[in-house]
Amino acid sequence: MGFIEEIARRRTFGIVSHPDAGKTTLTEKLLLFGGAIQEAGAVKNNKIKKGATSDFMEIERQRGISVATSVLAFIYKDKKINILDTPGHKDFAEDTFRTLTAVDSVIVVIDVAKGVETQTEKLVEVCRMRQIPIIVFINKLDREGKDAFDLLDEVEQKLGLKVVPLSFPIGMGYDFKGIYNIWENKLNIYSADNKQNVSKGIEFTDLDNPELDELIGENSAATLREELELIREVYPSFDQDAYLNGEQQPVFFGSALNNFGVQELLDCFVEIAPAPLAKMSDTRLVKPNEEKMAGFVFKIHANMDPNHRNRLAFIKIVSGIFKRNAPYTHIRLNKKFKFSSPNTFFAEKKEIVEESFPGDIVGLHDTGNFKIGDTLTEGEIMSFKGIPSFSPEHFRYINNADPLKSKQLYKGIDQLMDEGVAQLFTLEINGRKVIGTVGALQYEVIQYRLEHEYGAKCTYENLNVHKACWVHPDDASNDEFKEFIRIKQRYLAKDKQGQMVFLADSAFSIQMSQQKYPSVKLHFTSEFK
Ligand code: G4P
Repeated sequence: MGFIEEIARRRTFGIVSHPDAGKTTLTEKLLLFGGAIQEAGAVKNNKIKKGATSDFMEIERQRGISVATSVLAFIYKDKKINILDTPGHKDFAEDTFRTLTAVDSVIVVIDVAKGVETQTEKLVEVCRMRQIPIIVFINKLDREGKDAFDLLDEVEQKLGLKVVPLSFPIGMGYDFKGIYNIWENKLNIYSADNKQNVSKGIEFTDLDNPELDELIGENSAATLREELELIREVYPSFDQDAYLNGEQQPVFFGSALNNFGVQELLDCFVEIAPAPLAKMSDTRLVKPNEEKMAGFVFKIHANMDPNHRNRLAFIKIVSGIFKRNAPYTHIRLNKKFKFSSPNTFFAEKKEIVEESFPGDIVGLHDTGNFKIGDTLTEGEIMSFKGIPSFSPEHFRYINNADPLKSKQLYKGIDQLMDEGVAQLFTLEINGRKVIGTVGALQYEVIQYRLEHEYGAKCTYENLNVHKACWVHPDDASNDEFKEFIRIKQRYLAKDKQGQMVFLADSAFSIQMSQQKYPSVKLHFTSEFK
């Protein structure tokens, strides 16, 4: 198969959801269809159990497993599908945001009873900002839930999407009879006794056919006819370009647990989802079919073994062919590297590969050279954009609890921040270090890993910060900016890249500052230029 065909057959995507909506179950069912796993339960272990607010031993165990499931690849209908795993736990939301920079499309899973939940809103907002094509899967139709039309409205209103139902449920919960697959004009009848069998669906182009009444009962058939009529009147018809431009989002209904509606989703996905897309760098748009290799690091995974401080940097290939042992330029370090054992991922196995194509994810062994966002090229000086840091939600001072181990502590903090575990801010006024995280759980992870991987001990101290705002003055030499620096001195810090950050103690103080110093712009993400 040629280079262009290899690119065209790749589908790299992520599944996102609020915890418990069914992301893990759906992932697993997709893998079953792809023949990548033999039995249910294989992916499940990757999940950080709910309520695990302080169980870092569990997290450590999970970290090991999740290397294997960071990328789940399989072949389906001759397409190479790469599913990028996103952690469901809200404390790891930042990880998910970063992973979204490496996907070409997403599937959003929504629980039919709970509807749109907070985490879904946040994640979809990021997808929309980037115009990532989205398919919505409404899950758990075997349970009582919200009315399908109400749910479609909710998805439109809360998530700001423009939905196009491509399947529609027939009843729900006890009364769930099946799904009409609008995309393929097929009727799929659900049978609770025969849960794990996948029904192929009955071709049904003419809904007036009385056979429909026989199959699902007169009442259900009448309702279905009315509902499909309504769908035709209210919703636009599916337009692939609109979907690819992030302007229209197809919706499927089903039950992942019961393997129902999943194959319809997958069959449609492989047809409509985008092959690897071009990506902006700071100098130009890089297209997948370019001959020269370019890629970027979107995730770093520390090794479980504390004796080998060996990490795996996950690179998304944007263009060209990534070859084993070929020299690539690490742009930030301006240094050439060769990789003798690049890993790819197939189902749950990782193996060394000779060549990888755009859309693929390659795992590179790293001893501390990579940071999230680093770019590799064949020599061209450019860096990919789009991996911003968001303002953390929690802030604490970090103190050294063992003065003899300060070197280890700083090295540990440095490397953990490169991995993207949390963000480090150094206060301008006294040089004290502040760790900002998305969830409280990370503090324990950091403490534990500093001790076990670096032999250093730390303690934390509370700090009242509402938000980190990246500071960008219109004119760094004007008096307004100087005044801002003088007045806010106590709250100013540098992030790890040396950018100025205002650690505001309240929403009010941000508002006041914006009023008083309008030329000093405050941003809630690090990438605003
Ligand atoms: P997540 O990754 O999005 O957090 O969700 P996950 O797949 O783990 O699913 C959360 C719970 O919802 C699980 O139950 C799972 O079995 C259940 N579930 C997923 N899909 C469906 C569905 O289509 N119908 C129904 N009725 N339930 C579904 P659990 O009790 O939390 O876990 P487990 O004991 O089943 O592992």
